[in-house]
Amino acid sequence: MQKPILILGACGQIGTELTYELRKKYGATRVIASDIREGNENLMDSGPFELLDATDYNALEEVVAYYEISEVYLMAAMLSATAEKFPMRAWNLNMNSLFNVLNLAKEKKIDKVFWPSSIAVFGPNTPTDNTPQNTIMEPNTVYGISKQSGERWCNYYHQKFGVDVRSLRYPGLISHKTMPGGGTTDYAVEIYHQALSKKAYTCFLNKDTKLPMMFMDDAIRATLLLMESDPKDIKIRSSYNLAAMSFSPEEIAKSIQTRIPDFKIDYKPDFRQEIADSWPNSIDDSQTRSDWGWKPEFDLERTTQEMLDNLGKKPN
Ligand code: SER
Repeated sequence: MQKPILILGACGQIGTELTYELRKKYGATRVIASDIREGNENLMDSGPFELLDATDYNALEEVVAYYEISEVYLMAAMLSATAEKFPMRAWNLNMNSLFNVLNLAKEKKIDKVFWPSSIAVFGPNTPTDNTPQNTIMEPNTVYGISKQSGERWCNYYHQKFGVDVRSLRYPGLISHKTMPGGGTTDYAVEIYHQALSKKAYTCFLNKDTKLPMMFMDDAIRATLLLMESDPKDIKIRSSYNLAAMSFSPEEIAKSIQTRIPDFKIDYKPDFRQEIADSWPNSIDDSQTRSDWGWKPEFDLERTTQEMLDNLGKKPN
């Protein structure tokens, strides 16, 4: 039987869907959701929940002991755009929560850790097309610096202390169940909402800014696949490149227009343009595919269809 799992940051964009999926798979009572604040009604009703600050080691240790937690998914983080506004808060949250979880694993209080990294680990000197797994990484954002440092610490804890930590460099994630918060790729979710509600969207990135993206179902599937893989197949303990599709605001707008012909887009780039410009256009995840069998299922067309179909059913 699956030993109890704890999700930190369960009310966020990825955490919410991860909680649903893990509960579906292993049973609601085996998956403890936690966050610094309560989540939406569906999430709160779906199983056990703890109010928990991931940067508070003692509180975390208590919850882990109480539920006899074996695996932790650390999804609490401050994303790229917000982190530029609050650098020290971002650093404290993103790093201290990671150290807390890695130290619990080092002390053998938990057996396995998932920690998300990001395409933000790359920087302006990284090759932008088909960015390889191993390449120049000189992130110039607060968020990217925290993810790059986190990757090095994950690798260090694995090598020095045998900690079973697993990680993916997520691209921008697109979901109809939860909104992203404070990221540079958030436009690719907002655009679908506004296409339905206003038939118009003002994009905060330029029309030709191409970024790696992924539909949430693929991201969750990749995460569970990695967590269930045999440790001998996991050759990378910093973080794996992960890819599905890449597109620009103009391309996503066109795919919406095939279904909503009078949808209009205009462009008013803000400070997030500079962040996006420092990230890759597309990612080479061939090692991820060969090490543990990753393969995406959603391209842009299928994503647009899923987003518009599902958001169209919801009341505004
Ligand atoms: N989606 C994230 C962001 O835009 C990148 O990991 O900050």
